[in-house]
Amino acid sequence: SAPLRTHAAARGKFIGAALATSPLANETSYRTIAATEFSQVTAENAMKWESTEPNQGQFTFSGADAIVNFATQNNQQVHGHTLIWHQQTPGWVQGLSASAMRTAIQNHISQVVGRYADNPAVTSWDVVNEVFDDNGGWRTSFWYNTLGQSFVADAFRAARAADPDARLCINDYNVEGINAKSTAMYNLVSSLRQQGVPVDCVGFQGHLAIQYGFPSDIQQNMQRFADLGVQVRVTELDIRMQMPRDSSKDTTQATYYRNVINACNAVTACAGVTIWGFTDKYSWVPDTFSGQGAALIYDENYQQKPAYTAVHDAL
Ligand code: XIL
Repeated sequence: SAPLRTHAAARGKFIGAALATSPLANETSYRTIAATEFSQVTAENAMKWESTEPNQGQFTFSGADAIVNFATQNNQQVHGHTLIWHQQTPGWVQGLSASAMRTAIQNHISQVVGRYADNPAVTSWDVVNEVFDDNGGWRTSFWYNTLGQSFVADAFRAARAADPDARLCINDYNVEGINAKSTAMYNLVSSLRQQGVPVDCVGFQGHLAIQYGFPSDIQQNMQRFADLGVQVRVTELDIRMQMPRDSSKDTTQATYYRNVINACNAVTACAGVTIWGFTDKYSWVPDTFSGQGAALIYDENYQQKPAYTAVHDAL
């Protein structure tokens, strides 16, 4: 039957996947599924600061360009990920003084966003990622410790200046349901927009786990952000389980995937859902969450799982 992207397009939504540069270059099955099933792609790592500006003022775009070129060939949109994050940012940035850090942010954003500003494939950016802690306080990252909250507005303004047409997003995890962290995000987005800071979009990462339950108020949460006037999207969906995999866990996982697609379908301002990879062969989950895995919609042999069918049927 028709690929996921055909069904998503019929609803006016995208269905996306994060892509890794190495299998994209080396594995035919990976390339074929990535090209066929998805209408939007995110670089899993290739656009992060450590990849694009490993040394100050030395920009390397080989990985980022490979993703953008692949997307262009396959009529896909690219969501740029990510400009300002406390991880995968080189040590040289972390040790800068406040004024030097401000200058580095301006230069990095102008170079990275500017490179793709005239490229019609690249339509959106995660400008800031994970600025909150799980209680809804500001994460005490090197950004915050050096600059206070100001880095957020500065980064959005720099991104707008570098590409006036790009949709600019704030992105985080554990903000899918209504809780202290998502409410902190809601209050920040509301306040930034009142100040004229160009925040266009809110990204809910969606790193879920079947053993923690489904955030049943996800649609209500998306809608309250939409009511602020921003676009919303699910940016990094994966639904992990305690290994080993079995058919009962697969069924629960499929239900969670379906619930996320249904929530996005139900919210007009939800532009689409991006899955953080697509095959269990390449997933950050087993490396990050000990004993957990099988979080994606294809198994490690590129066979469709019940989660694939659930996404397909919900779209
Ligand atoms: C992860 C990648 O999947 C890994 O390959 C990398 O080693 C670490 O980062 N939140 C994010 C993503 O915003 O960039 C992270 O991606 C997963 C959590």
